Amino acid sequence: MRIDVITIFPGYLAPLREALLGRAIGAGLVDLAVHDLRSWTRDVHQAVDDSPYGGGPGMVMRPQVWGEALDAVLALDERPARIVVPTPAGRPFTQATAQAWTGEERLVFACGRYEGIDQRVVDDARRRDLPVDEVSIGDYVLVGGEVAVLVMVEAVVRLLPGVLGNPASAQQDSFSDGLLEGPAYTRPEVWRGLAVPEVLRSGNHAKIARWRRDRALERTAQRRPDLLAALPEDALDDADRAF
Ligand code: ADE
Repeated sequence: MRIDVITIFPGYLAPLREALLGRAIGAGLVDLAVHDLRSWTRDVHQAVDDSPYGGGPGMVMRPQVWGEALDAVLALDERPARIVVPTPAGRPFTQATAQAWTGEERLVFACGRYEGIDQRVVDDARRRDLPVDEVSIGDYVLVGGEVAVLVMVEAVVRLLPGVLGNPASAQQDSFSDGLLEGPAYTRPEVWRGLAVPEVLRSGNHAKIARWRRDRALERTAQRRPDLLAALPEDALDDADRAF
């Protein structure tokens, strides 16, 4: 997969080259390019924003600069790209979104700052039949899209084949079966007087699986009843319901 990020703060994306993502890049599983939006400005001040039509606070990012930047970055590679615009006004980014994007050959992230990017940038791309997703990583407002890109790229890249040492860990993730994951334990057996639940040391795999499923159901009911309510009819069997 190729990932491009366009931003006025390229340094913000440096963590993408660390740890798991850094290794994925090193192993050639991901090509990453970060581009400075200001290199497509044409005025001496390298201005990327202007005041909003209709008045109001804040500044809006100019369409000319974004249009040229996107055209140039898209032309760097022949693979078809999905353009992603992080914005608090977007559709929610979820595990399902991350999973769906693993099927893309190329993702191009356009990081807005200020009050956002002139809407015609997205409208123009869609008019040219380029897929564009405006997405939010949660119901809070960040200063810009950069941190949201760190979040989304990490969520997607860890799902790519060969990135996680043990692919089963992605299959057991919270959300992959619609439930939160239950608690986990490692050695020692007793720590500060707290013992690891007996069943996990029993060696009885069926009982362990049942216990883990029950803890996941319990935790989801307590913390995210909305997730339980959203499960499809057949997601819970009789043993789950008995819990
Ligand atoms: N930019 C600012 N806030 C954001 C959010 N919650 N999600 C995605 N992009 C953003």
